[in-house]
Amino acid sequence: MTRWSIKIALLLLPAVVAALQLPSPIISPAPPNELSRRSAVSLLITSSSAAVSSAVAPRIASASASADAAKGGDVIGSIILNSNNKKTFPLASFGLQIYDDDTAYRLTLMALEVGYRNFFASVLAGNQRGFAKAVKASGIPRDELYICGTVLSNRVSGEQAAYQKTKQGCLENMAAMAAGNIDKLDMIMLDYPGPNEESIRGQWRAFEDMALNDNTVDDLAVSNFNPAQLDAILVNLAATKPTVNQLLLAKNPQAILDYNVKRNILVQAWSPLSRALPRYGNEVDAIGKKYGKSAAQVGLRWIVQSGAAFCTQSKNRSHFEEDLNVFDFTLSDDEMTKITQLAA
Ligand SMILES: NC(=O)c1ccc[n+]([C@@H]2O[C@H](COP(=O)([O-])OP(=O)(O)OC[C@H]3O[C@@H](n4cnc5c(N)ncnc54)[C@H](OP(=O)(O)O)[C@@H]3O)[C@@H](O)[C@H]2O)c1
Ligand SMILES: *[C@@H]1O[C@H](CO)[C@@H](O)[C@H](O)[C@H]1NC(C)=O
Repeated sequence: MTRWSIKIALLLLPAVVAALQLPSPIISPAPPNELSRRSAVSLLITSSSAAVSSAVAPRIASASASADAAKGGDVIGSIILNSNNKKTFPLASFGLQIYDDDTAYRLTLMALEVGYRNFFASVLAGNQRGFAKAVKASGIPRDELYICGTVLSNRVSGEQAAYQKTKQGCLENMAAMAAGNIDKLDMIMLDYPGPNEESIRGQWRAFEDMALNDNTVDDLAVSNFNPAQLDAILVNLAATKPTVNQLLLAKNPQAILDYNVKRNILVQAWSPLSRALPRYGNEVDAIGKKYGKSAAQVGLRWIVQSGAAFCTQSKNRSHFEEDLNVFDFTLSDDEMTKITQLAA
């Protein structure tokens, strides 16, 4: 029943996207059945105390593991972003998909129980209120959570129009989050870049307003930005720096990582399982067996060990647990190279 309604929703998605005149599918549909079949038995490791491997890019703070542990939370690899924010950014995040508020509520509580502390609640998923209510109901102190909202403002052109549309989007995020008494976000992200440099600068000015004047967010981020689009912001040396660029980390992943690292921006991979993992074929199964890990865990570990973060989603508790438990093993250099080639 549920599976069917998901399928119907997915079939309708292209029509919705077309109606909204969006440039491409926003939240990738396709939960491939194949993927679930490939998943090995979940290991249910709940609190491995591994710090992030030294093989990870140097910006990743290995100290954060013990800091988290000291607070009594689950240990998750975290990094410090290029902002002045003292709060660390967990590399593993739960990105809510398109479903109703009740489902968002239920899955957010499940993610919190399993140990997720980083949440990506896009306006495009349409369930920020359900998410926010779950955060409130969980009773977990707000300062132990990292919460990201988004603004969709890429269909208006010109500095002023983009500014206004983005400003409105920021206010809408805060109105939705108020459903769970969340009065400040950790991050706000542009779902897509505006159509030209002027528009991007308008989008960014609204974000800077939110951070510097309204004080309703700390970190500013982007998604699906290419180098020129990042530079539309960075050309202004006084601009607040983008902290994260959320992208599909496939098709020449090394080049994608490079252009972001060069600008001191963290890549956060979207759809790492539904879109990227199928590219790796049986290779990741075989590698996983060696470590007692599933294909999904190997795929996510490759991301983390490449110096990036990821955003996944699941409706299955044991998958949620698997996706979080990728910080207690290290892929060899050969395995890393192999997967990078498969991802290309
Ligand atoms: N910025 C953008 O343009 C953009 C675009 C697309 C998506 N996104 C964001 O990225 C998030 C993730 O993308 P996605 O929806 O494509 O999700 P994903 O995490 O790549 O894949 C989810 C699928 O993988 C399965 N899965 C999860 N963990 C698994 C495991 N350990 N073993 C086997 N199967 C597993 C899930 O099935 P089960 O439910 O059965 O576990 C689900 O079918 C979205 O929610 C959204 O927030 C952003
Ligand atoms: C969750 O995933 C596991 C492992 O893939 C599977 O055995 C189990 O049946 C799934 N549970 C649900 C409720 O779908």
